[in-house]
Amino acid sequence: MIKKGIILAGGHGSRMSPLTKAVNKQLLPIYDKPLIFYPLSILMLSKIRDILIIVNKGQLNQYKKLLHNGENLGIKIKYIEQPYPKGLPDAFILGEQFIGSDNVALILGDNFFYGQSLSSKLVKSKNINNGAKVFLHKVKRPELYGVAKINNKNKIVGLKEKPKKYYSDYAITGLYYFDNNVVKHAKTLKPSKRNELEITDLLKKYLYKKKLSAEIIGRGGAWLDTGSIEDFYKTSNFVSSIENRQGFKIACLEEISLNNNWINKKNILNAIKFYGKCDYSKYLSSLISK
Ligand code: DAU
Repeated sequence: MIKKGIILAGGHGSRMSPLTKAVNKQLLPIYDKPLIFYPLSILMLSKIRDILIIVNKGQLNQYKKLLHNGENLGIKIKYIEQPYPKGLPDAFILGEQFIGSDNVALILGDNFFYGQSLSSKLVKSKNINNGAKVFLHKVKRPELYGVAKINNKNKIVGLKEKPKKYYSDYAITGLYYFDNNVVKHAKTLKPSKRNELEITDLLKKYLYKKKLSAEIIGRGGAWLDTGSIEDFYKTSNFVSSIENRQGFKIACLEEISLNNNWINKKNILNAIKFYGKCDYSKYLSSLISK
Protein backbone atom coordinates (compact mmCIF):
# COMPACT_ATOMS: atom_id res chain seq x y z
CA MET A 1 0.00 0.00 0.00
CA ILE A 2 1.38 3.42 -0.95
CA LYS A 3 0.70 6.34 1.36
CA LYS A 4 3.33 8.82 0.19
CA GLY A 5 3.70 10.67 -3.10
CA ILE A 6 6.32 12.90 -4.71
CA ILE A 7 5.65 15.54 -7.34
CA LEU A 8 8.72 16.44 -9.36
CA ALA A 9 8.06 20.05 -10.24
CA GLY A 10 11.47 21.45 -11.06
CA GLY A 11 13.27 21.50 -14.38
CA HIS A 12 14.31 24.49 -16.47
CA GLY A 13 11.30 24.39 -18.81
CA SER A 14 13.78 25.51 -21.45
CA ARG A 15 11.50 24.57 -24.36
CA MET A 16 9.02 27.13 -23.04
CA SER A 17 11.38 30.06 -22.57
CA PRO A 18 10.84 33.05 -22.19
CA LEU A 19 7.61 32.03 -20.37
CA THR A 20 9.66 30.03 -17.90
CA LYS A 21 12.45 32.55 -17.27
CA ALA A 22 10.83 34.03 -14.17
CA VAL A 23 8.07 31.52 -13.37
CA ASN A 24 8.36 27.75 -13.05
CA LYS A 25 6.50 25.80 -15.74
CA GLN A 26 4.29 24.02 -13.21
CA LEU A 27 2.91 27.36 -12.03
CA LEU A 28 1.81 28.43 -15.51
CA PRO A 29 -1.89 28.07 -16.36
CA ILE A 30 -3.56 25.08 -17.90
CA TYR A 31 -6.83 26.85 -18.69
CA ASP A 32 -8.09 28.04 -15.27
CA LYS A 33 -5.57 26.56 -12.84
CA PRO A 34 -1.81 26.29 -12.39
CA LEU A 35 -0.40 23.14 -13.97
CA ILE A 36 0.69 21.76 -10.56
CA PHE A 37 -3.01 21.34 -9.57
CA TYR A 38 -3.39 18.51 -12.10
CA PRO A 39 -0.66 16.11 -10.91
CA LEU A 40 -1.53 17.00 -7.30
CA SER A 41 -5.16 16.09 -8.00
CA ILE A 42 -4.01 12.68 -9.29
CA LEU A 43 -2.23 11.91 -6.02
CA MET A 44 -5.28 13.09 -4.08
CA LEU A 45 -7.61 10.95 -6.21
CA SER A 46 -5.28 8.04 -5.38
CA LYS A 47 -6.05 8.89 -1.71
CA ILE A 48 -2.43 9.82 -1.04
CA ARG A 49 -2.23 12.59 1.58
CA ASP A 50 1.44 12.74 2.46
CA ILE A 51 3.12 14.67 -0.34
CA LEU A 52 6.59 16.00 -1.14
CA ILE A 53 6.93 18.62 -3.87
CA ILE A 54 10.40 18.96 -5.37
CA VAL A 55 11.02 22.41 -6.84
CA ASN A 56 13.87 24.33 -8.43
CA LYS A 57 16.37 26.10 -6.26
CA GLY A 58 15.03 29.58 -5.44
CA GLN A 59 11.38 28.82 -6.32
CA LEU A 60 10.15 27.42 -3.04
CA ASN A 61 8.26 30.51 -1.97
CA GLN A 62 6.19 30.64 -5.16
CA TYR A 63 4.83 27.16 -4.41
CA LYS A 64 4.33 27.81 -0.71
CA LYS A 65 2.32 30.92 -1.54
CA LEU A 66 -0.07 28.80 -3.58
CA LEU A 67 -0.33 25.53 -1.66
CA HIS A 68 1.03 26.31 1.84
CA ASN A 69 1.46 23.16 3.94
CA GLY A 70 -1.67 21.58 2.48
CA GLU A 71 -3.65 21.83 5.72
CA ASN A 72 -6.67 23.53 4.15
CA LEU A 73 -6.73 20.75 1.55
CA GLY A 74 -6.67 18.05 4.22
CA ILE A 75 -3.22 16.90 3.13
CA LYS A 76 0.38 17.32 4.31
CA ILE A 77 2.76 19.01 1.87
CA LYS A 78 6.52 19.22 2.35
CA TYR A 79 8.89 20.89 -0.08
CA ILE A 80 12.47 20.35 -1.04
CA GLU A 81 14.69 22.17 -3.54
CA GLN A 82 16.55 20.38 -6.31
CA PRO A 83 19.89 22.15 -6.88
CA TYR A 84 19.80 21.38 -10.64
CA PRO A 85 17.79 19.02 -12.91
CA LYS A 86 19.84 15.87 -12.40
CA GLY A 87 17.15 13.51 -13.72
CA LEU A 88 13.89 12.01 -12.53
CA PRO A 89 15.38 9.35 -10.18
CA ASP A 90 17.00 12.18 -8.20
CA ALA A 91 13.51 12.52 -6.63
CA PHE A 92 14.19 9.39 -4.58
CA ILE A 93 17.65 10.50 -3.51
CA LEU A 94 16.42 13.95 -2.48
CA GLY A 95 13.28 12.42 -0.97
CA GLU A 96 15.05 9.69 1.03
CA GLN A 97 14.17 11.16 4.42
CA PHE A 98 10.56 11.84 3.38
CA ILE A 99 10.16 8.28 2.06
CA GLY A 100 11.65 6.66 5.18
CA SER A 101 10.70 3.00 5.23
CA ASP A 102 7.56 3.44 3.06
CA ASN A 103 6.67 2.72 -0.55
CA VAL A 104 6.17 5.75 -2.76
CA ALA A 105 4.43 7.13 -5.84
CA LEU A 106 6.10 9.62 -8.20
CA ILE A 107 4.24 11.90 -10.58
CA LEU A 108 5.90 14.36 -12.94
CA GLY A 109 4.76 17.93 -12.46
CA ASP A 110 3.97 18.36 -16.15
CA ASN A 111 1.78 15.29 -16.67
CA PHE A 112 -2.00 15.44 -17.19
CA PHE A 113 -4.32 12.43 -16.83
CA TYR A 114 -8.06 12.28 -17.40
CA GLY A 115 -10.58 9.54 -18.01
CA GLN A 116 -13.55 7.46 -16.95
CA SER A 117 -12.81 5.19 -13.96
CA LEU A 118 -9.32 6.67 -13.60
CA SER A 119 -9.82 7.20 -9.85
CA SER A 120 -10.63 3.55 -9.19
CA LYS A 121 -7.64 2.47 -11.30
CA LEU A 122 -5.43 4.80 -9.27
CA VAL A 123 -6.68 3.56 -5.93
CA LYS A 124 -6.29 -0.07 -7.03
CA SER A 125 -2.77 0.47 -8.40
CA LYS A 126 -1.34 1.93 -5.25
CA ASN A 127 -1.93 -1.36 -3.46
CA ILE A 128 1.51 -2.65 -4.36
CA ASN A 129 3.81 -3.81 -1.59
CA ASN A 130 6.61 -5.25 -3.65
CA GLY A 131 8.03 -4.16 -7.01
CA ALA A 132 7.12 -1.24 -9.24
CA LYS A 133 4.22 -0.28 -11.47
CA VAL A 134 3.91 2.08 -14.43
CA PHE A 135 1.02 3.40 -16.49
CA LEU A 136 1.32 3.00 -20.24
CA HIS A 137 -0.54 4.85 -22.98
CA LYS A 138 -0.43 4.35 -26.74
CA VAL A 139 0.94 7.39 -28.57
CA LYS A 140 1.56 8.48 -32.14
CA ARG A 141 5.10 9.75 -31.52
CA PRO A 142 6.76 7.24 -29.15
CA GLU A 143 10.24 8.63 -29.90
CA LEU A 144 9.44 11.55 -27.56
CA TYR A 145 9.02 9.36 -24.48
CA GLY A 146 10.31 6.43 -22.51
CA VAL A 147 8.61 3.41 -24.07
CA ALA A 148 7.79 -0.14 -23.00
CA LYS A 149 7.50 -3.21 -25.19
CA ILE A 150 4.70 -5.47 -23.97
CA ASN A 151 3.74 -9.07 -24.79
CA ASN A 152 0.25 -10.38 -25.51
CA LYS A 153 -0.45 -10.65 -21.78
CA ASN A 154 0.35 -6.94 -21.32
CA LYS A 155 3.58 -7.82 -19.49
CA ILE A 156 6.56 -5.51 -20.03
CA VAL A 157 9.41 -7.26 -21.84
CA GLY A 158 11.66 -4.30 -22.67
CA LEU A 159 12.21 -0.59 -22.00
CA LYS A 160 13.91 2.22 -23.91
CA GLU A 161 14.22 5.96 -23.28
CA LYS A 162 13.29 8.05 -26.34
CA PRO A 163 14.23 5.42 -28.97
CA LYS A 164 15.35 6.87 -32.30
CA LYS A 165 14.24 3.71 -34.12
CA TYR A 166 10.74 2.27 -33.65
CA TYR A 167 10.55 0.05 -30.56
CA SER A 168 6.97 0.25 -29.20
CA ASP A 169 3.93 2.57 -29.29
CA TYR A 170 3.44 2.39 -25.55
CA ALA A 171 4.77 5.46 -23.78
CA ILE A 172 5.61 5.22 -20.11
CA THR A 173 3.59 8.00 -18.54
CA GLY A 174 4.90 10.13 -15.71
CA LEU A 175 3.14 8.24 -12.91
CA TYR A 176 5.11 5.52 -11.16
CA TYR A 177 4.65 3.39 -8.06
CA PHE A 178 7.67 1.95 -6.29
CA ASP A 179 8.48 -0.20 -3.29
CA ASN A 180 10.99 1.09 -0.76
CA ASN A 181 13.99 -0.40 -2.63
CA VAL A 182 13.70 2.53 -5.04
CA VAL A 183 15.95 4.71 -2.89
CA LYS A 184 18.71 2.10 -2.87
CA HIS A 185 18.36 1.50 -6.65
CA ALA A 186 18.33 5.23 -7.49
CA LYS A 187 21.65 5.67 -5.70
CA THR A 188 23.34 3.10 -7.95
CA LEU A 189 22.37 4.80 -11.24
CA LYS A 190 24.94 6.47 -13.51
CA PRO A 191 24.12 9.48 -15.70
CA SER A 192 23.15 8.73 -19.31
CA LYS A 193 24.65 10.22 -22.48
CA ARG A 194 22.49 13.32 -21.97
CA ASN A 195 24.03 13.52 -18.49
CA GLU A 196 20.85 12.72 -16.54
CA LEU A 197 19.78 9.90 -14.28
CA GLU A 198 17.11 8.11 -16.33
CA ILE A 199 13.84 6.74 -14.99
CA THR A 200 13.94 3.92 -17.56
CA ASP A 201 17.29 2.75 -16.09
CA LEU A 202 15.65 2.69 -12.68
CA LEU A 203 12.66 0.75 -14.02
CA LYS A 204 15.02 -1.75 -15.65
CA LYS A 205 16.28 -2.72 -12.17
CA TYR A 206 12.72 -3.91 -11.45
CA LEU A 207 12.16 -5.39 -14.92
CA TYR A 208 15.23 -7.64 -14.68
CA LYS A 209 13.99 -8.97 -11.34
CA LYS A 210 10.52 -9.58 -12.87
CA LYS A 211 9.08 -7.02 -10.49
CA LEU A 212 7.74 -4.45 -12.93
CA SER A 213 4.05 -4.43 -13.76
CA ALA A 214 2.00 -2.24 -16.08
CA GLU A 215 -1.45 -0.72 -16.13
CA ILE A 216 -2.66 0.40 -19.53
CA ILE A 217 -4.63 3.60 -19.95
CA GLY A 218 -6.89 2.68 -22.85
CA ARG A 219 -8.12 4.91 -25.67
CA GLY A 220 -10.98 6.23 -23.49
CA GLY A 221 -8.43 7.89 -21.23
CA ALA A 222 -6.30 10.91 -21.95
CA TRP A 223 -2.67 11.37 -21.04
CA LEU A 224 -1.10 14.60 -22.16
CA ASP A 225 2.32 15.88 -21.30
CA THR A 226 2.89 19.58 -21.32
CA GLY A 227 6.49 19.80 -22.41
CA SER A 228 6.10 22.42 -25.13
CA ILE A 229 4.09 25.59 -25.64
CA GLU A 230 1.97 23.81 -28.25
CA ASP A 231 1.18 21.01 -25.74
CA PHE A 232 0.29 23.61 -23.13
CA TYR A 233 -2.35 25.19 -25.35
CA LYS A 234 -3.70 21.81 -26.48
CA THR A 235 -4.09 20.67 -22.88
CA SER A 236 -5.71 23.99 -21.93
CA ASN A 237 -8.21 23.60 -24.77
CA PHE A 238 -8.96 20.06 -23.66
CA VAL A 239 -9.72 21.22 -20.09
CA SER A 240 -11.76 24.17 -21.31
CA SER A 241 -13.89 21.98 -23.63
CA ILE A 242 -14.71 19.47 -20.91
CA GLU A 243 -15.30 22.00 -18.14
CA ASN A 244 -17.50 24.26 -20.22
CA ARG A 245 -19.54 21.39 -21.59
CA GLN A 246 -20.10 19.57 -18.30
CA GLY A 247 -19.96 22.35 -15.75
CA PHE A 248 -17.58 20.24 -13.63
CA LYS A 249 -14.02 21.29 -13.00
CA ILE A 250 -11.05 19.02 -13.63
CA ALA A 251 -8.54 19.02 -10.77
CA CYS A 252 -10.45 21.19 -8.31
CA LEU A 253 -8.36 20.21 -5.29
CA GLU A 254 -10.90 21.29 -2.68
CA GLU A 255 -13.67 19.31 -4.40
CA ILE A 256 -11.56 16.13 -4.34
CA SER A 257 -10.77 16.68 -0.67
CA LEU A 258 -14.41 17.31 0.19
CA ASN A 259 -15.42 14.11 -1.62
CA ASN A 260 -12.70 12.22 0.26
CA ASN A 261 -14.12 13.63 3.52
CA TRP A 262 -10.77 15.21 4.32
CA ILE A 263 -12.16 18.74 4.66
CA ASN A 264 -15.47 20.43 5.47
CA LYS A 265 -17.49 23.53 4.61
CA LYS A 266 -15.24 25.73 6.75
CA ASN A 267 -12.20 24.80 4.63
CA ILE A 268 -14.11 25.63 1.45
CA LEU A 269 -14.99 29.05 2.88
CA ASN A 270 -11.31 29.57 3.77
CA ALA A 271 -10.35 28.67 0.22
CA ILE A 272 -12.87 31.12 -1.25
CA LYS A 273 -11.41 33.86 0.94
CA PHE A 274 -7.90 32.91 -0.16
CA TYR A 275 -8.56 32.79 -3.92
CA GLY A 276 -10.80 35.89 -3.87
CA LYS A 277 -13.53 36.75 -6.38
CA CYS A 278 -12.99 34.47 -9.35
CA ASP A 279 -14.66 31.66 -11.28
CA TYR A 280 -12.80 29.05 -9.26
CA SER A 281 -14.26 30.50 -6.03
CA LYS A 282 -17.74 30.56 -7.59
CA TYR A 283 -17.35 26.87 -8.33
CA LEU A 284 -16.22 26.23 -4.75
CA SER A 285 -19.24 28.02 -3.35
CA SER A 286 -21.52 25.93 -5.59
CA LEU A 287 -20.05 22.82 -3.90
CA ILE A 288 -21.34 23.83 -0.48
CA SER A 289 -24.62 25.41 -1.49
CA LYS A 290 -26.21 22.19 -2.77
O1 DAU B 1 6.24 12.59 -19.53
C1 DAU B 1 6.66 11.25 -19.51
C2 DAU B 1 8.14 11.12 -19.84
O2 DAU B 1 8.85 11.88 -18.84
C3 DAU B 1 8.60 9.65 -19.81
O3 DAU B 1 8.01 8.93 -20.88
C4 DAU B 1 10.12 9.55 -19.93
O4 DAU B 1 10.52 8.23 -19.76
C5 DAU B 1 10.79 10.42 -18.87
O5 DAU B 1 12.20 10.44 -19.03
C6 DAU B 1 10.27 11.85 -18.93
O6 DAU B 1 10.72 12.43 -20.15
P1 DAU B 1 10.81 14.01 -20.40
O7 DAU B 1 11.92 14.28 -21.33
O8 DAU B 1 9.45 14.48 -20.79
O9 DAU B 1 11.17 14.58 -18.97
P2 DAU B 1 11.48 16.09 -18.60
O10 DAU B 1 12.95 16.29 -18.57
O11 DAU B 1 10.65 16.99 -19.46
O12 DAU B 1 10.95 16.21 -17.11
C7 DAU B 1 9.62 15.94 -16.74
C8 DAU B 1 9.20 16.82 -15.57
O13 DAU B 1 10.05 16.63 -14.43
C9 DAU B 1 9.25 18.31 -15.87
O14 DAU B 1 8.08 18.89 -15.31
C10 DAU B 1 10.47 18.83 -15.17
C11 DAU B 1 10.65 17.88 -14.03
N1 DAU B 1 12.06 17.60 -13.71
C12 DAU B 1 12.84 16.98 -14.64
C13 DAU B 1 14.14 16.66 -14.36
C14 DAU B 1 15.00 15.95 -15.37
C15 DAU B 1 12.58 17.94 -12.48
O15 DAU B 1 11.85 18.50 -11.63
N2 DAU B 1 13.87 17.62 -12.20
C16 DAU B 1 14.68 16.98 -13.08
O16 DAU B 1 15.85 16.71 -12.72
